[in-house]
Amino acid sequence: MEKKINFNAGPAELPGEVLYEIGRAIQKYKKTGISILELPHRGKEFAEILAESNNLVKELCDIGDDYEIVWMHGGGRMQFCMIPMNFLGANEYAAYIDSGHWSKEAAEYAQYYGEVKILASSEKNGYNSLPAWPEKITAKTAYLHITTNNTIEGTQWHNIPDTKVPLIADMSSDILSAKRDYTKYAMFYAAAQKNLGIAGVGFAAIRKDLLKKSKKTMPPLLSYQEQIKENSLVNTPNVLGIYTSLLMLRWIRQKGIDRIEQENQLKATTLYKAIDSSKIFKAHIADTTHRSLMNVCFSADTKENEAKFLELCEKNNIVGIQGHRSKGGFRVSLYNAITAQSVDDFVVVMNQFEQKA
Ligand SMILES: Cc1ncc(COP(=O)(O)O)c(C=O)c1O
Repeated sequence: MEKKINFNAGPAELPGEVLYEIGRAIQKYKKTGISILELPHRGKEFAEILAESNNLVKELCDIGDDYEIVWMHGGGRMQFCMIPMNFLGANEYAAYIDSGHWSKEAAEYAQYYGEVKILASSEKNGYNSLPAWPEKITAKTAYLHITTNNTIEGTQWHNIPDTKVPLIADMSSDILSAKRDYTKYAMFYAAAQKNLGIAGVGFAAIRKDLLKKSKKTMPPLLSYQEQIKENSLVNTPNVLGIYTSLLMLRWIRQKGIDRIEQENQLKATTLYKAIDSSKIFKAHIADTTHRSLMNVCFSADTKENEAKFLELCEKNNIVGIQGHRSKGGFRVSLYNAITAQSVDDFVVVMNQFEQKA
């Protein structure tokens, strides 16, 4: 059967080359004579996988040795727990910018561990735009947390103002999708299943000055300091998941972040143009400066047309375009692995639908 075009929001489409390499490694990893699924996590080969992954993150994000890299279980939500557990002290508060479902959930998780303040929110308008960046952030703020790309609503921060407090960013759905100044962040993290591999793996880059401030009393598995001291091996890690992230990092490096950024711009421009010029489809995010290049969210004029369009897409081997259940309509995710050709093919189907309707 022909491979489908997969616009799912995550787990998301992986490049063919990466899938091929995973297949080979599952049969036999390099010259070890065993599968990657059987590879000892404390052996030489996995140590090499971890070292190369850490180095590639530093190289591609252009961050120096004042950052530590750590790979963990539990995807994005585990980081929602670990951040306040590690960094929220007794006489301070954690500040969150509430720009969508995931940033709200990150703030809700933090409330288990201390005081949380929402400094800005666009919840009232259904998260259909980004909130204004907060002006006053007091010294008692342990950190300010943002979500750089709102996967469900389809908004993205394209400019991040400088802040005086440590800035922590959830970059799960736009990590390494464009050139960005990663040194603005005291910590950034991502669940891997969008631009960086498969589900179940989380990655974080933490600046050493923030790391030093982290609390000491917690189980080692949940402590960033312990995880880093043990080189991400406090317990048995997701070897296959981390190896897949390494393959993605190599793929990104080979392509080059400039080309990835150009392609991502082109893909999003093509799709938004088709939506904005349509009589049937309408983008959820009106302000073009807030629109996400990764998750393009839109609806059709009637529920009937939405159902018919979905059917037409399925006939054309296009899957994964249904919007999140809280938003309805469509969401087309344009992560790094999606080609410009796939977007062109999708737009052809949109045009066909428009002409017949
Ligand atoms: C921006 C963002 N943060 C966090 C998460 C949660 O990740 P996980 O399901 O790995 O906990 C997601 C999931 O899609 C996401 O898009």
